[in-house]
Amino acid sequence: MIDISMDYLGMKLKCPVMVGSTPLTDLPANLRKMEDSGAAAIVFPSLFEEQLEMEAHMLDADLSRGTESFAESLYYLPEQSEYRMSHEVYLEHLHRARHGLEIPIIASLNGNTPGGWVRYALDMERAGAAAIELNTYALATDASQTSELIENQLVELVSSVCKAVKIPIAVKLSQNFTSIPSLASRLEQAGAAGVVLFNRFFQPDFDIETLEVKPTLHFSTSAQLLPRLHWAAILYGHVKGDIAISGGVHSAEDVLKSIMAGGSIAQMVSALHVCGIGHISRVLDDLRYWLEKHDYNSLAETRGCLSRRSLPDTSPYDRGNYIRTLTSFSMRTNVSAF
Ligand SMILES: Cc1cc2nc3c(=O)[nH]c(=O)nc-3n(C[C@H](O)[C@H](O)[C@H](O)COP(=O)(O)O)c2cc1C
Repeated sequence: MIDISMDYLGMKLKCPVMVGSTPLTDLPANLRKMEDSGAAAIVFPSLFEEQLEMEAHMLDADLSRGTESFAESLYYLPEQSEYRMSHEVYLEHLHRARHGLEIPIIASLNGNTPGGWVRYALDMERAGAAAIELNTYALATDASQTSELIENQLVELVSSVCKAVKIPIAVKLSQNFTSIPSLASRLEQAGAAGVVLFNRFFQPDFDIETLEVKPTLHFSTSAQLLPRLHWAAILYGHVKGDIAISGGVHSAEDVLKSIMAGGSIAQMVSALHVCGIGHISRVLDDLRYWLEKHDYNSLAETRGCLSRRSLPDTSPYDRGNYIRTLTSFSMRTNVSAF
């Protein structure tokens, strides 16, 4: 059978399809199904900086009052209960998954400032995480938050997590940085073993009847893959670390594009919510079929073949593509209008 194994964060993975961070992994039966369907690894949902700080604060307050009030204080804190799992339950779930499955489990920490909460990375390592995905969601909402400030804070955060653990750290980036190549190389110097392109921002929507701003979550389509392909193709060869694609991966074609752009692995979330966990095995079958039909010996040999550095003309990844797309589009619409 054709070799579709890929290397990611120092691990030899049996295939390029991973389950990205999703609450589908909360159920042990789903974890088993993911492994049985052929997933190479599973990323757990994130523990949030805010949640961890709140837990630590509650514990401190409790210790100063005496342990008998602990259960009561938990009971009276509804904000805390809105998180799906306390960090202790999370670690227990991680530990069980680590021992119940053969594929690696990647834990996820989600925050944006360095601080005491990063010590939870060590707990994740001890509970058996093969790696940690650090999801950094920083949003500038006033003029004093310069790009430089946000990037420095991020690099400091990554550096403190990398120093806390021995397992590899992948940084799940937002697409909204001015210079992704510069940031990716700074993150690498800070100790990151890879980047995940990209975090999806779930922007709030407006209800114009009630004048409310409300959270929304739409599942992706393959259209969301394009910016990931673009940046992976630019980064490939410029950073030594691995590149994971997260966002818009729904089919074998999407996985192939991700690897051809320069990614080592592709993560799926929306596709599994929409088509079910068994979709992974269909994608892997299609992937093998395509590679065999096109006479490849392995998937790894396709890696980066459409990256910026592999093309004789880099303009598809630069301003040239932008100009050409807009120009050719206006010509097409002019023709069809008559
Ligand atoms: C219901 C849901 C929950 C998610 N929770 C997390 C999370 O806890 N941490 C995280 O880094 N990403 C989280 N994500 C983002 C996904 O991991 C992924 O990056 C994003 O959905 C894009 O991939 P997709 O196009 O395959 O859905 C979540 C996505 C969904 C749909």
